[in-house]
Amino acid sequence: MSATEERQRNDGGHAALMDGVYRWQRHVYDATRKYYLLGRDRMIAGLVVPPGGTVLELGCGTGRNLVLAARRYPDSRLHGLDISAAMLATADATLSRQALRDRVALARADATRFDARALFGEAAFDRIFVSYALSMIPGWELAIDAALDALSPGGSLHVVDFGQQERLPAWFAAALRGWLARFHVSPRSGLLAEIAARAEAAGRPTRFTPLHGGYAWLIVVGPRSGSARPRRD
Ligand SMILES: C[S@@+](CC[C@H](N)C(=O)[O-])C[C@H]1O[C@@H](n2cnc3c(N)ncnc32)[C@H](O)[C@@H]1O
Repeated sequence: MSATEERQRNDGGHAALMDGVYRWQRHVYDATRKYYLLGRDRMIAGLVVPPGGTVLELGCGTGRNLVLAARRYPDSRLHGLDISAAMLATADATLSRQALRDRVALARADATRFDARALFGEAAFDRIFVSYALSMIPGWELAIDAALDALSPGGSLHVVDFGQQERLPAWFAAALRGWLARFHVSPRSGLLAEIAARAEAAGRPTRFTPLHGGYAWLIVVGPRSGSARPRRD
């Protein structure tokens, strides 16, 4: 984390920055992002939430993913947190419109340091997912730590985000990065290594799937070894 990022994170500047970025964009966010936040639906399909299972999204934004997860896993209990009050206002309105508001708990919190019990009354979740948020979070490694801490022993963590465009032309990767920087988005070169190291320390396996030539990376951290496998009925 750069010194500027660290200062922003500590003085609440990052929350204000995110509110500023999304104050107007949130109104066109879902319509525009579907063309370039690739892999989100595949990640949701891979959650395979057990009946009655608990799910948490870190950096839930407009609630788009929570709506899809709620429909796909009708018995699940969903939770979303985000640092931006503006994004949460949109998520609240979207979930209400879809008659899903009573199934999804929302909270304003920093993904790098949240207390799930205080926010949601839940100590651990069966599934936690992070979709295109780690590339916007200063101190994103801390969010991985926090997610693993909040995961039940038999639970899994699912991450989808920009990859390193490793099989795409260099000019495309450079243009994409320049454009993303305008939105305060930085693809994390250490994303897989940092997640895999932490997962291994926690006795959990990691599965890595690069998508579209490395445009996006899908990373799944599985249940702790020795814990009962999650039910798949
Ligand atoms: C690119 S959007 C992704 C939203 C959603 N996950 C999706 O896939 O459409 C990134 C989200 O992360 C949130 N965010 C950024 N930093 C955060 C932090 N430290 N803690 C929680 N949320 C954060 C932003 O406010 C924004 O809503």
